[in-house]
Amino acid sequence: MTVRSVLRMGDPRLLDVARPVEGFDTPELRRLVCDMKETMLSENGVGLAAPQIGESLRIVVFGFDAGSPEAEELPYTVLINPVLAFPSEETEDDWEGCLSVPGLRAKIPRRVRLRYTGFTLSGERIERDAEGFHARVVQHECDHLDGILYPMRIVDFRSFGYTDVLFPKDEEASSR
Ligand code: NI
Repeated sequence: MTVRSVLRMGDPRLLDVARPVEGFDTPELRRLVCDMKETMLSENGVGLAAPQIGESLRIVVFGFDAGSPEAEELPYTVLINPVLAFPSEETEDDWEGCLSVPGLRAKIPRRVRLRYTGFTLSGERIERDAEGFHARVVQHECDHLDGILYPMRIVDFRSFGYTDVLFPKDEEASSR
């Protein structure tokens, strides 16, 4: 497993539409997903999409391992070739950051509820209903697969700023 460098906003590869994974359970795919997890953990991220490490494939990883206190809210998941469906129109605004946009945060409107389908590393089908933070993370990560970075979704630019200025006392948030 290797910690890979994360592309930053301005790199044109972050704007590409990624292509679907065609072969599951291959050594190359396993290695890539391991690298994605290592990279996400080393950067204290809650999610990472393959295009962020320069691999134009429809793969996202997100969440926390079983046993960690956050795992119930957001279980560690490898999601390949995801498809999102929105059972309701309801949206809510909340803060987002991105490893490709370091040091900044913005309030972004996202759908509150989401049903996502896709495949695991070994090609088994995943189907899940999510809401709140879980739904937000999946929408953010899947946006990367279509070349969309969260600043493109900002509606109110007054809620966009540097993390350490927005949250001066929140050391954990500042380190992300
Ligand atoms: Ni991101």
